Amino acid sequence: MPNQKRRREDRIISKCLFPAAGYGTRFLPATKATPKEMLPILTKPLIQYGIEEALEAGIHTMAIVTGRGKRAIEDHFDISYELENQIHGTAKEHLLDDIVSLRQACTFSYTRQKEMKGLGHAILTGETLIGDEPFAVVLADDLCTHSEDGVLSQMLSIYQKYQCSIIAIEEVPPAQTSRYGIIAGEPLAGEEGLYRVDDMVEKPDPQDAPSTMAIIGRYILTPDIFDILRETPPGRGGEIQITDALLTQAKAGNVLALKFKGRRFDCGCVDGFVEATNYFYQHTTPSTKEGL
Ligand code: G1P
Repeated sequence: MPNQKRRREDRIISKCLFPAAGYGTRFLPATKATPKEMLPILTKPLIQYGIEEALEAGIHTMAIVTGRGKRAIEDHFDISYELENQIHGTAKEHLLDDIVSLRQACTFSYTRQKEMKGLGHAILTGETLIGDEPFAVVLADDLCTHSEDGVLSQMLSIYQKYQCSIIAIEEVPPAQTSRYGIIAGEPLAGEEGLYRVDDMVEKPDPQDAPSTMAIIGRYILTPDIFDILRETPPGRGGEIQITDALLTQAKAGNVLALKFKGRRFDCGCVDGFVEATNYFYQHTTPSTKEGL
């Protein structure tokens, strides 16, 4: 259909949004002057893992919602002439290989969230970078590993088929429901681990949770989410919640939840951060360890 305009939902996903304005209070005092997204797991900052996951999924345009005190993120993905010049031709030059190829492969754009009014508000702030097209969202706190396709890749395959919003989920212990958005849904026949979402609640107490299937920080959102977010009143914690906006889409049958293959570390808390650090250290090859 060369001359026919494609429906906007049919467009491929070319942009990934990274809400990165939060204060990271659980890591104070480390996060007083350092963005929590820049805390390293081994030698790589958290946000770089997320960018690599997006790139692996074929996404090259990274849209980052920052805030005051977050300039280190921009500097990290920019050229550092002095440093690069200093180590050029030395035995340490290879230590920058990954970040150099990343910045060559990707385009980065930034906007600032001036006030912290919740994840939904952060995503709405990113509209100016995304425009009128479907897009991915990565919360860098949730660090995901996988053996084959990354979580975003798995979600993009589902999106290609169903053209609606997709969220990644995993089972959590009942006592932990109040840390997550929790969904209820019907399994889709013939699709392993895929659910049509019919209810979702932000951080319910265990007795109010519709299930133990928790949303993790990976989303594919259709662009109508921006109009919905504009109309979404503050919810849990007095903040504008993406979970509430997604519920509007879910009620129209337009949200699928995928139990992804892989493992997630909650690097937004100290326990999860240490767990991820140990995991990545154990899974680093001896030759790479020598460079640490
Ligand atoms: C956010 C979302 C929540 C989701 C979680 C995943 O919460 O609001 O629905 O389950 O991310 O990490 P936050 O962790 O930012 O409080």
